[in-house]
Formats: sequence, C-alpha cells, structure tokens
Amino acid sequence: EKGNYRHYMQKEIFEQPQVIGDALATYLDPATRRPRLPEGGPDWAAVPRLTIVACGTSSYAALVAKYWFEQIARLPVEVDIASEFRYREAPMPKGGVALFISQSGETADTLAALRYAKDENQFIVALVNVPESSMAREADLVLPILAGPEIGVASTKAFTCQLTVLMCLVLAVARSRGTIDAAEEARLCAALSEVPARALEVLNHDEKIRAIALWLAEARDVLYLGRGAIFPIALEGALKLKEISYIHAEGYAAGELKHGPIALIDEAVPVIVLAPHGPLFEKTVSNMQEVLARGGRVVLLSDTAGIETEGRNAAEIIELPMVDAFVTPVLYAIPVQLLAYHTAVAKGTDVDQPRNLAKSVTVE
Ligand code: M6R
Repeated sequence: EKGNYRHYMQKEIFEQPQVIGDALATYLDPATRRPRLPEGGPDWAAVPRLTIVACGTSSYAALVAKYWFEQIARLPVEVDIASEFRYREAPMPKGGVALFISQSGETADTLAALRYAKDENQFIVALVNVPESSMAREADLVLPILAGPEIGVASTKAFTCQLTVLMCLVLAVARSRGTIDAAEEARLCAALSEVPARALEVLNHDEKIRAIALWLAEARDVLYLGRGAIFPIALEGALKLKEISYIHAEGYAAGELKHGPIALIDEAVPVIVLAPHGPLFEKTVSNMQEVLARGGRVVLLSDTAGIETEGRNAAEIIELPMVDAFVTPVLYAIPVQLLAYHTAVAKGTDVDQPRNLAKSVTVE
C-alpha cells in the first residue's frame, strides 16, 4: 500500500498535511475554532507541575511542548527520557499531572514510567497513536494523535501529529489557567488552522532538499543547530539522519556551540541551521557566523524574511513559509525528515527497516 511512493517513510512524510488536518478537525471546534479536549481532564488551574516522559522522537515532542507550556500556559514542566525517569525515584508533587507521549503506546520504559507516576498519585495523560495500546488503557485521559498507522521505523507523521495535538492541549490549558486572552488565542488558533496548507508548501521543496541530500550523503558527521522550541527539532533532525543513513549527527542548542562542539567545525562538516525569522533569529545567526568564520558550510533553513537577510552567507538554503513562531516546530520538522530520507536513499540504506532498530521497543 505504498502507492506511488518508494518507501513507507516517504509516503508517511507526504501524508502529513492530511493527518495534521485530521487531528485539527478533532481537536479544534469547527464552530468556535478553539481547542476542545475530551472530557475528564484535570483542573489545570490547580496543577502545580506537569511531568512529560517519552523516548526517542516522542521525547523531542515533549521538549518542544515544554517551551509551549511554560511560555503560553505559564505551567512549570519537567521533561525526562523514560529510561532515566523510571529509575530516578523522582518526587512528584501532590496534584501533579504526568503526560506520556508514545506513538506505539507500548514502549517498555515509557510504560514503566507511567506506572511509577501512577504510584506517585499523578493524573495520567497518554498521548498515543494506538488507541488500544497499554498506555491508553492505563491512563486517566487518552489523547489520540490520529496519525493513522505508521509503518516506517523512523517516526515522521506521528511526530508532527504529536506536536499538533500538543499545541491544542497547550491552548486549552492556557485558557483554563487564564494565561491567554481571547485575541491571542484566536490568533494562535488561526496559525494552527493554516498548518496543513503550509506543510504542503514545505513538501514542495522536496526536489531541492533531495539535491542537498546528495551532498550530505558524502559527510561523515553533520551538526544541526536551533534555539528555543526549534532546538528539539535540531535534535530530531540529527536522530532521523543517524537512524536511517548511519551518518553521525548531533543536534545542539545553537548557543551551546561555543562550549565545545565548535571544535568539530571544518569544511567537511555540514551544519544545518534551523532559524525561523523571529525573536531568536539574530542570536541563531550570530552562531551561524561563528560556524562560517571557521570554514563551516551551512545549510540554512529559514523563511522568506530570514533568507532575504542571511541567505547569501549559506552554502545552501531551504526557504520555508512565513508563519507564526508558535507553529514553526511542526513545519521545520518536515524538511529535516526529507533531508534524512533523501540522504538515506542516496546511500542505499534500508530506509523503512534500518539496521539494529525495531518499530516498537517493548523490551528494556
Ligand atoms: O512508540 P514510541 O513513540 O514510544 O517510540 C519511541 C521511540 O522508540 C521512537 O520515537 C524512535 O526514536 C523512532 N525510531 C525515531 O524515529
């Protein structure tokens, strides 16, 4: 059922405008265009802290969500990877909420972490793609991400659907906590409603991204840089490249570069800079200049405004649509998926079944 696609991963990347739209159709009320959540959630105004636990790509969705919950809903958030969290014996606050993000709903470490949080009397929320999964069964509230079956081992559409549902959740929580006014909520909901159309525009850069990937396929190491809510997308880009192309890649918060990783830079290390034009743009650009000054070759992912001012300095550019900063993580996730995909195809690896990996990690 790959249709005209060569791999499931490719098909799943191209399905994103559709499945993000499906998620929005469920989580945004068509009449009011405001987020609506299933009944039975906690009283968010009284929640002292949200703990989010996940593995791999799902843990990067958790990290993005931390930026959103803290900025928009003013809710303190702790994020941890499940394999560490489950053994850490972390104290959890009375009245706290614990959110578990998992495509499969079966990842052994995440499930064990969920059971720990349950023993700590947290209100348990599961954000899963498989509604009949163990995590869904054991949670107090289930938020299905509605991505449809994901076959490729590398998670793509599940990640962007996780982010989409998390954006709706954040807005609903912000409303209950009184941290967002109606005008701002309407503005962010409008930006959210446009994501499927903008995602389609991003996919139109497929051919350009394929050409850049031919260059990446020659590299031994690749760095990804981003700031703020885009920093986790740098981590995700690096993970995607590692897992399917077997090229060593690392994601860094751009501001952390000078604390060590800058020593890696030379003309042989492509540096992917993720920099939407916005409050952190100048800061990220100054980190990009540090790379250029050391002979590094940059692929700049930015929007029309960012490319206009900084595009000429980069070896390669990918020009993304101008959108509200709120929705940039979901849109910048797509080109990094395509970069990894085309690099793997150029290298001739098994894209859908990469070596040593399983779709669902149900053992520790
Ligand atoms: O099913 P889950 O979301 O719990 O899976 C978590 C990770 O195993 C998963 O995201 C993994 O990192 C992917 N292969 C990444 O593409």
